[in-house]
Amino acid sequence: MNEEIENIHIGEVDDIEVGSVENFEHEEIDYAIFHLESGFFATQGHCYCEEQAFLSEANIEGEELECASCGNTFSIVSGDPISDLDLPPLKIYDVTEEEDDIFLNL
Ligand code: FES
Repeated sequence: MNEEIENIHIGEVDDIEVGSVENFEHEEIDYAIFHLESGFFATQGHCYCEEQAFLSEANIEGEELECASCGNTFSIVSGDPISDLDLPPLKIYDVTEEEDDIFLNL
């Protein structure tokens, strides 16, 4: 099987302030792109639960996100649940920086 990685241009490094998150849509799928002190990270765009809250509306505390709708917390880096260990982990994606540009690697 030939599994090619698709590098999708998200924007420029300065488009997302450190400590904030933006939604990015690609082929009708939402992704949450986080810019932290430690770099760029991406998770699925919505949580799994009924509200399907946008994770781009989450509050960021260090490397954790707090769902703006229900208050559950997850690691932005690993996707692992923190506040409720029964929740499934969030899907995470690789983001790379090349000079001033950021790419989502799917
Ligand atoms: S509303 Fe879904 S995790 Fe918060």
